[in-house]
Amino acid sequence: MDLIGVTGAPGNVGTPLVAELLARGARVRVLARRPEHARQVLGDELGEAAAGLDYGHLDFGNRRTYVAAFRGVRRLFVTRPPQLSQVQRDMVPALDVALGAGVEHMALLSIQGAERIRFVPHAKLEQYMQESGVAYTFLRPSFFMQNLTTTHLPELRRGEIYVPAGGGRTSFVDVRDVAEAGAVVLTGEGHENRAYELTGSEALTYGEVAAKFTAATGRLVRYADPSPLAFFRHMRARGVATGQIIVMEGIYATARFGIAGRVTPELARLLGRAPRSVDDFARDTVAPLLREGA
Ligand SMILES: NC(=O)c1ccc[n+]([C@@H]2O[C@H](COP(=O)([O-])OP(=O)(O)OC[C@H]3O[C@@H](n4cnc5c(N)ncnc54)[C@H](OP(=O)(O)O)[C@@H]3O)[C@@H](O)[C@H]2O)c1
Repeated sequence: MDLIGVTGAPGNVGTPLVAELLARGARVRVLARRPEHARQVLGDELGEAAAGLDYGHLDFGNRRTYVAAFRGVRRLFVTRPPQLSQVQRDMVPALDVALGAGVEHMALLSIQGAERIRFVPHAKLEQYMQESGVAYTFLRPSFFMQNLTTTHLPELRRGEIYVPAGGGRTSFVDVRDVAEAGAVVLTGEGHENRAYELTGSEALTYGEVAAKFTAATGRLVRYADPSPLAFFRHMRARGVATGQIIVMEGIYATARFGIAGRVTPELARLLGRAPRSVDDFARDTVAPLLREGA
């Protein structure tokens, strides 16, 4: 059985991906920047299943970690860490070593629209993989539901969704479904040199999401709908780095301008079932969190 290397674990997608791969009986090496931290977090989150994991040290910023990390790996899940935007400089050297070590198939956690927005780092990684001759699968998810319970949790705990998306629609996707799609393409056949645009099955406004959160939690959650400038000031006051806020402004602008709502059937096809809905997420993730914070 091929050894599958997973970058980006622990992480929003990496953690459920590792769980899905183990559930399918795959051999998995977690390629972590902090292997001891990864062992602890995955042990806590996955319980006994994590005992079967192998760990390697991979820091994209440290070339000395590359060779040992990729030794024996045949399939690789590639996550671009959010803080790495110069991927040619920061990630390609590691991927070159992976190819030299015999990696035959790379699945890339890309982004919806990467085929059109060629300046995003994911598009550069896609181009690299296409030109390298490796078998590739591009997973291009829409906006993660979990952004609302991670990046935007402080505001959600106060009963607000605070993002500058106006009345635009977003085809929210659950990271657990993106992870399952990753496990499907890495353990199955027929996904080589394919790209999948992974979205939920409905496009909602943030006002509609707030109403669903209210219904599922029994607490009033309102959509604050700040202006881009108010959002910028708020995030700065929270201590978020300017570069990160600018990326978020760009993402919410796509919703405001009506280009984040595209829904595709590709995730349902890969999973053989409907993707998780915002109602599901409201019940199984938001409600327990708001109870904790109540
Ligand atoms: N959020 C969205 O709505 C959305 C939608 C579509 C696509 N995406 C894309 O998804 C990707 C992020 O996925 P995610 O949210 O699952 O990631 P995440 O939860 O932010 O986790 C990032 C992982 O990368 C690791 N990492 C950081 N720096 C590293 C380095 N120098 N070398 C090796 N590993 C390093 C982190 O390890 P440490 O814990 O040690 O830092 C962590 O395990 C991004 O490329 C993003 O653009 C996001």
